[in-house]
Amino acid sequence: MISLQGNVALVTGSSRGIGRATALRLAEAGADIVLNYARSRSAAETVAENIAQMGRNVLVVKADVSEREDVECMMEAVDREFGRLDIVVSNAASGGFRELMKASDVHFEQTMNTNVRPLITLVQAAMPLFEKTPGFARVIALSSHGSHRALPAYGLIGGSKAALESLARHLALELGDQGVRVNIVQAGLVETDSARLIPGVEQMFEHIEARTCVGPRRLQPEDVANVVTYLASPMSDMIQGQTIIVDGGATVFA
Ligand SMILES: NC(=O)c1ccc[n+]([C@@H]2O[C@H](COP(=O)([O-])OP(=O)(O)OC[C@H]3O[C@@H](n4cnc5c(N)ncnc54)[C@H](OP(=O)(O)O)[C@@H]3O)[C@@H](O)[C@H]2O)c1
Repeated sequence: MISLQGNVALVTGSSRGIGRATALRLAEAGADIVLNYARSRSAAETVAENIAQMGRNVLVVKADVSEREDVECMMEAVDREFGRLDIVVSNAASGGFRELMKASDVHFEQTMNTNVRPLITLVQAAMPLFEKTPGFARVIALSSHGSHRALPAYGLIGGSKAALESLARHLALELGDQGVRVNIVQAGLVETDSARLIPGVEQMFEHIEARTCVGPRRLQPEDVANVVTYLASPMSDMIQGQTIIVDGGATVFA
């Protein structure tokens, strides 16, 4: 039984999709929650109501994770509200689906600033809060198969996820002795708002569904949230700097 009672968890991009499912799972496990969003205020407030109904404390913070100042202000708000932080889930991501040959410098920078740099800025800004309750801190970031496979129109996001996975390993090396565990959850295709924008996504779902080794199932946000919740718990103490794949075995099908 995973219990996060007494812990505070921040999930970036938790107004929708995998972030929303993760915030709800962490709250079910007992954690108080910091919900972050960039644009979807009413969606975030609905998630907050759901969490409050579970009897957990919840703070909703509008912050663009690509902006260092926003991240630092968010941590100040967490400090004022809770005075501690134990778990950071770096989930928010963006980036248009386009071929690399059509990508501008601006597209590149926006994708990296939203999908890669926040792992560093979040951890830098969270460290003083982690240190208030030394010995236990968890950082989990969301990646995808595009980090090591070539998918149509996915080059920028895939490149950003490859960089993210490397950063996680290096943060694990730098911070492990201070009680911080840094790991990646690499999810297969999940039916969320962003996935619906992928060109040809329905054929991709059908192709993957035929290859999962768990029966004909489509991966749900909750499947990913379950693994994040395990990594957020004390049970994962010896897992450090790893990338855990959640895809129903689709990638082992030859
Ligand atoms: N869906 C998949 O198939 C899949 C597969 C593997 C990995 N992943 C990864 O899982 C994570 C979540 O994906 P998803 O499909 O659930 O995404 P999604 O449904 O598009 O939701 C994205 C979330 O990120 C937030 N966000 C976007 N830009 C932000 C910014 N600059 N600052 C703060 N929040 C921001 C959004 O908030 P607003 O609504 O307020 O803008 C929203 O809550 C991403 O890292 C994604 O790469 C997804």
